[in-house]
Amino acid sequence: MSSNTVTIRDNRTGKEAEFPILHGNEGDPVFDISSLYSKLGMFTLDPGFRSTASCESKITFIDGDTGVLLYRGYPIEQLAEQCDHLEVCYLLLNGELPSSKQLTDFKRVISRHTMMHEQLLQLYRGYRRDAHPMAIVLGVVGALSAFYHDSLDIRDPHHRQVSAYRIIAKMPTIAAAAYKYSTGQPFMYPRNNLGYAENFLYMLFAVPCEEYVVSPVLARAMDRIMILHADHEQNASTSTVRLAGSSHANPFGAISAGVGSLWGPAHGGANEAVLKMLKAIGTVERIPEFIKRAKDPDDPFRLMGFGHRVYKNYDPRAKILRQTAHEVLHEIGHRDDPLLQVAMKLEEIALEDEYFARKKLYPNVDFYSGLILSAMGIPTNMFTVIFAVSRCIGWITQWNEMIASNEGIGRPRQLYVGAGHRDVVPLFERG
Ligand code: SDX
Repeated sequence: MSSNTVTIRDNRTGKEAEFPILHGNEGDPVFDISSLYSKLGMFTLDPGFRSTASCESKITFIDGDTGVLLYRGYPIEQLAEQCDHLEVCYLLLNGELPSSKQLTDFKRVISRHTMMHEQLLQLYRGYRRDAHPMAIVLGVVGALSAFYHDSLDIRDPHHRQVSAYRIIAKMPTIAAAAYKYSTGQPFMYPRNNLGYAENFLYMLFAVPCEEYVVSPVLARAMDRIMILHADHEQNASTSTVRLAGSSHANPFGAISAGVGSLWGPAHGGANEAVLKMLKAIGTVERIPEFIKRAKDPDDPFRLMGFGHRVYKNYDPRAKILRQTAHEVLHEIGHRDDPLLQVAMKLEEIALEDEYFARKKLYPNVDFYSGLILSAMGIPTNMFTVIFAVSRCIGWITQWNEMIASNEGIGRPRQLYVGAGHRDVVPLFERG
């Protein structure tokens, strides 16, 4: 019996099987159970995948106990401080930080893909003006596969690269157009002389009839938000993209599926839910009432922006965004924003509360991002769209890694607990 294995014994039959323990470069080991069914005739059951690793990956590492987040080995704190979002996109896609020339060339290539096919703009007109922008983005991203037939062969590395460039470049344009459509204002075309985040804010807030200059502080804040949301290991939406892409569906369809998963309030929709919660709380005096509700097992209310499946310590992204929130609110003169006061007090009370300490519930990335976006004048229903714009690089990078792994289609099994075999009773006999 090798020391680097796990032995599983079926006590019903006495049958035993050994499974190899695999060690990564960081984090907890795994044991490979891919041969479990052939050796013991059983499957594992792990709803919510609380104890399951779905793949090997070289992209992002999280240590939930110590609050560590690394993109290709680099700490998120250093990347957020020293890099810009496209630099991080290059790192995630290629595995190494770019040289100055590589970054210049990458930014030039991305800028050549920022416009959408003009007919795609017609698609927006099929939506109600009051449609949630995530519904529009979900549809338009999927519709990219109806226009870019020259980059859908997933077996062709060049096609995969062009699709990645198109997703990175077009997501801000798609997202900004969804916002413009909701306001009745004309779409703004990208300006390729602007930075990535700056261009996004320009397309959101500029109008054709006058000059619009983006605040460098707000552009830097948006760029930092994008870096912090870029990737996060095998979260729900990324796992959705991997599973959807494992059927060899085209990348735009797979990413559209990821958009749909991110929309949920338990995931990327939490930033929108945080703002709604802070507005519902309204004043510092009402915080205890909501803390009480969050602790009540019979009350479905949860403190949005708190808790995380992996982080059982402070989400490192929340720490950085906390600082950014103060910078942005100071810049726009809202440092006394009542919502920020409520958020700061809520964080202070929750972190001192025994329930949250015992459950290891800390502020996550969504707790502060909504405050910053709201201060930037972005409507609440655009918050998750901005999460999707930021996360698309993570999705396409993880999709690329899944395609290159040749693991085949993802097809989990189940524990069937439904009705046993039975025959149909003819309708006339059923009364
Ligand atoms: C993101 O996976 C990722 O990496 C996601 C993400 C990314 O970058 O992709 O980090 C982005 O999605 C961040 C999370 C945003 N969601 C929220 O802020 C919504 C509020 N949080 C919860 O819904 C919850 O914390 C989850 C969904 C985030 C995590 O849920 P888990 O891991 O399934 O934990 P759980 O629901 O089993 O909760 C454990 C206990 C429960 O109590 P008991 O049943 O054990 O008594 O903690 C309680 C929960 O009731 N709990 C909370 C709580 N979150 C968990 N109680 C009050 N308020 C909360 N927010």
